[in-house]
Order: sequence, then structure tokens, then C-alpha cells
Amino acid sequence: MRAVVVADRQGGTAGAVTDVPDPQAGPGEVLLDVELSSLNYKDAMAVAGRPGILRGLPKTAGIDAVGRTPDGRTVVVTGAGLGERRDGGLAERVAVDPSWAVDVPMPFTPRHAAAIGTAGVTAALSVLRLQRLAPPPGPVLVTGAGGGVGGFAVALLAASGFEVVASTGRQDRLGDHLRRLGAAEVVPRLDAEVGKPLQSQRWAAVVDSVGGGPLVNAIAQTVPGGVVAACGLAASADLPGTVLPFILRGVTLTGIDSVAISAETRLAAWALLAEHCSPDLVDVMTERVIGMAEVPAAADEVLAGRVRGRIVVDVRR
Ligand SMILES: NC(=O)c1ccc[n+]([C@@H]2O[C@H](COP(=O)([O-])OP(=O)(O)OC[C@H]3O[C@@H](n4cnc5c(N)ncnc54)[C@H](OP(=O)(O)O)[C@@H]3O)[C@@H](O)[C@H]2O)c1
Repeated sequence: MRAVVVADRQGGTAGAVTDVPDPQAGPGEVLLDVELSSLNYKDAMAVAGRPGILRGLPKTAGIDAVGRTPDGRTVVVTGAGLGERRDGGLAERVAVDPSWAVDVPMPFTPRHAAAIGTAGVTAALSVLRLQRLAPPPGPVLVTGAGGGVGGFAVALLAASGFEVVASTGRQDRLGDHLRRLGAAEVVPRLDAEVGKPLQSQRWAAVVDSVGGGPLVNAIAQTVPGGVVAACGLAASADLPGTVLPFILRGVTLTGIDSVAISAETRLAAWALLAEHCSPDLVDVMTERVIGMAEVPAAADEVLAGRVRGRIVVDVRR
């Protein structure tokens, strides 16, 4: 079968379409006939040869897979160690633990499920967390709004009744797109340079996919009792701030992990997505569908922050 295999090659570690033997399903696992995958930020890092994603090389990339089980179900698998500690979904077949497989929910097609993928699930988990922690009323800031997690967060928050302020480095090009997703306002990226520990109070809550200075500034601008959900590191993995917003404003910083969650939580995330993201909206979030050979070049685009929303990969193309 064909797979995007990341290996040490001449010129460095990189992913390339490679013919490999079919995977073997381990005890209790099933072999999924993959139809579609997607290109998440983690996948882009892995395919570009950046360390820290794939445990041991060579390994197939792809943290998401949509395909058919041997008993004929069409399922979506996100996380499950795919494309991290085991061979992933950028392949024609992948072995999975069936307890991670979610039936593609109505009203979505397999392509919609792939477009949503880990990015959409992460956004849904962030919204569910905010709902549980109940921030005070007021605007919710979404950073990295032009990306996959950010775009789905804007859409889900707006449909759940929050007033959404979308922060993007591409205000000119993506303003209309973000308003169409549900943003009430579109603002530039927050400064990468860290400002005062306590700044003007602006956000009741934040969904942050960029980390670093922008996250620290967002925390410093959060109102007393506000909640900040940190789910990404597109700007930086650093957290160069102070504890003052936590101890003087009672701000809560809460972490979102889309992998180590219960099946119940995963189903709740998909239920929220099915309730609030129409197929048309998922189409708006889908920048394009690419074939396997286009994955390495598209990975560079993701890492350069040039993709709007999501890239779906047709693994049979
Ligand atoms: N916690 C989890 O389980 C989980 C799951 C999925 C993803 N993530 C993480 O979440 C992050 C976003 O993932 P994604 O799939 O949404 O990626 P993505 O589609 O590439 O979006 C990232 C967005 O971040 C913004 N950005 C990029 N570089 C930046 C910089 N230097 N400073 C400020 N903003 C920058 C860009 O948005 P604008 O151009 O609009 O500003 C970009 O579109 C990644 O770090 C990813 O690893 C975490």
C-alpha cells in the first residue's frame, strides 16, 4: 500500500509517499480501509521532519483517519496514537483499536469528518471545557482563528451563544471568512512580546492555539474569574508570564488534550460538532482536498501559517 512515511533520508528527516507492506492488526485491533485523512499541525511537523511527534522512525504520519471497518462501518479515528506512537492515517490502511473509532455522525460525509478531524475535536473540547468552567458573560477571544482549531472554535462558540472575537494575522484576507464562521469582531494577532502582567480587561474567556507571548498577553487581558483554554503552540511552546492574573484576578488556565480523553468525551465532542457545524460550514472550513504526493509541500504551507482552515487528504489519490 502507499503511505506517507517519515524516515531519515538524504538531506534530513522527511516524509514521502512510499510503498510499504500492509499493516498487521494486533490483538483486538481492526484494519481500517482508509479513504481520507487530513493535515493537522502535528502532521505537518512530522512530515517536515521536526522532532517530538513521531516516536521512532521510519513511521507513517497522520493523526486522523476516516475509512471503513471490516464490518462495513464508516468511522473517523482521531488521536489513538496514530501518527505519533504508531503508524498513522496518511496511508491506504491502518491498524486501530476499534474503541477509538466513532461512526461518522449525521449530517456529515466522510470528507466532512476528515475536514473536522483532530482540529475540530480539539475546538469542541475547548468549548465543552468553557461551558463546564462557566466564565462570566462577555467576549471570547479565539487566537490562530485562520487555522483549523481556531476556525472551528469560532464557529462552535458563536453557535453556542458566545460573542466571539477572532484574532488573526491575516485580517485583510480572512476577515469575511471569519465573520461567516460567526465572529462578531476580527482583530489582529496579540503581541508576541509580553506586555504588563495585568493589562486592560477584555476577554471573559480565551481559546488559544498559539501559545507563547500572545497567550501570556491574552491571560493578562482576561477579566476576573475568566477562563483561558490553552490548546496549541503555533507561535511558541513557551509560557513566559507571571502568576498575577491567577492570584489577583482568579483567572483559570485550563489545558486541552485531544488524545488522552475518554470515549464518552470524544462522543460529546462529535455531538457538539454535529449539532453546531453544518456541512456547508465544514465546506467553508475546507481549503482544499489534496492527493498523497502533495502532502510534503502542503505541510510546509501549514507550518508557514498560509493555510485557511483545513486540508483534507484523499489517500487513494
Ligand atoms: N491540544 C491538542 O490536543 C491539539 C489538537 C490539535 C492541534 N493542537 C495544536 O493547536 C495548534 C493549532 O493547530 P491547527 O491544526 O489549528 O494549526 P493551523 O491550522 O496551522 O493553525 C494555526 C494558526 O495559528 C496562527 N499562527 C501561526 N503561526 C503563528 C505565530 N507565529 N504567531 C501567532 N499565530 C500564529 C495562524 O493563524 P492566523 O494566521 O489566523 O493568525 C495559523 O493559521 C498547533 O500548535 C497544534 O499542534 C493541539
